[in-house]
Formats: sequence, structure tokens, C-alpha cells
Amino acid sequence: MKLLPLCLLAVVAGVAVVAGVAGCARKNLTTPELYDAYCTRCHGDRGQGDPRSLTLYPRANLLASPMALRGDRAAIRERIAEGYGPMPAFKRRLDPQEIERLVNYTLQLGHPGHPGHPPKETP
Ligand code: HEC
Repeated sequence: MKLLPLCLLAVVAGVAVVAGVAGCARKNLTTPELYDAYCTRCHGDRGQGDPRSLTLYPRANLLASPMALRGDRAAIRERIAEGYGPMPAFKRRLDPQEIERLVNYTLQLGHPGHPGHPPKETP
């Protein structure tokens, strides 16, 4: 029974820590949530890119990305992991499975039925 208060303390501290780093917490995010958290600010919610940066970086439009259009998984994986130009590297922030899911997501951008596309008919 003596251990109980300690356990409680650990739980409370744990909650505080989780709450404290909520901005960086990324466990168990679905792929659309990952994309939203890490990619949307530069690539737009559907991969279309931020219009303000497209003049300077047309490649930020993932819908027109040559590597995505030719289905080059290795190249996309490398871009996400290593970054390129103004795009940061994600290999320290995302684990390999998360990167892999984002490769899939990038390849599907622009396809009908992609989670980035709201369904056409809304009830
Ligand atoms: C800070 C802004 C920024 C963030 C955040 C960002 N990107 Fe990028 N990304 C860019 C820019 C700008 C380019 C184009 C770079 C260039 O051509 O010099 C790019 C290029 C790419 C490319 C290569 C496209 C091509 O054909 O060359 C892929 C793939 C990509 N980003 C995927 C992602 C994914 C997935 C994420 C989220 C994990 C992400 N990016 C996050 C800015 C960003």
C-alpha cells in the first residue's frame, strides 16, 4: 500500500508531461492526422501547395510532383526523411512506418476517394 501514492504521483506527472508536450505528441495519429500535423502548412490540405510559396517552389504542389506522378516511392521517402531546400527532414520526428504511410498518402493525393478529398455527395 505504501507504493500507491507514488504510483498516483507518477500517473499525475505522466499526464502533466503528456499535456505539456501535446504540441509534439504524435503517437497513434492516423495518416491524415500526420499529414495535417506535419505537411499541410506547406503542402495544403490536399497537396495543392500553399499558393504563396508556389511561385518560388512549384514542387510544393504535390499534385504535380513528378516523383509522385511516376510513383517513385524511394524518391518520396527520401524527400520526407531527408528534406530538401526549405522542406525540413522528418527522419527524427517520424518513425519509418509513419514515413511509409506518408509516402502512400502522397501517392494517393489527387486520387478520388483520397481522405484529403471530401466525399462529393454530402447527405
Ligand atoms: C516548411 C514547409 C514544408 C513542410 C512542413 C513540408 N514540406 Fe514537402 N516540400 C516543401 C517545399 C518548398 C518543397 C519543394 C522543394 C524544392 O523543390 O526545392 C517540398 C517538396 C516535397 C516533395 C518532393 C516533390 C517533388 O516532386 O520534388 C515531397 C514528396 C514532399 N515535399 C512531401 C512532404 C510531406 C509528406 C511532408 C510532411 C511530412 C512535407 N513535405 C512537409 C515544403 C515543405
